[in-house]
Amino acid sequence: MNYSKTVLKNFMNPKNRGEIKNPDGVGKVGNPQCGDIMWVYIKVGKNKSGKEVIKNIKFKTFGCAAAIATSSMITQLAKGKTLDQAKKLTRNDVAKSLKGLPPIKMHCSNLASDALKKAINDYKSKKKTKNDWTYCKNFENWFCNS
Ligand code: FES
Repeated sequence: MNYSKTVLKNFMNPKNRGEIKNPDGVGKVGNPQCGDIMWVYIKVGKNKSGKEVIKNIKFKTFGCAAAIATSSMITQLAKGKTLDQAKKLTRNDVAKSLKGLPPIKMHCSNLASDALKKAINDYKSKKKTKNDWTYCKNFENWFCNS
């Protein structure tokens, strides 16, 4: 397989590998054709302008060299970005940052961008659920806002 030096570097020495304890969001995706599977964990914080940003991000991937390299790259691209910016990262952004992927391996980069989007959606849905409930001291009970 003809991989770029950047792909090989990210495969041999992946960045942000591992899990985050008590993550704010988790995205899990799998490719049913090859059986590869990937988890992306995020911690969300706020930047100086008060916008939500990806403070920390890690991944766990059981997959091919391209899947591991794309996981490593998506975490590097997403770290420090606002959630809106991170959600817009595409498989082409990942492939471009890796200085290209063999055409037969382009589908592997879908896993990385999809897992990140799922982790962000997971964070947003948890936050929504949290915000949709209000504790009323008078009735000593939780009330749904929606
Ligand atoms: Fe399965 Fe690469 S071959 S993700």
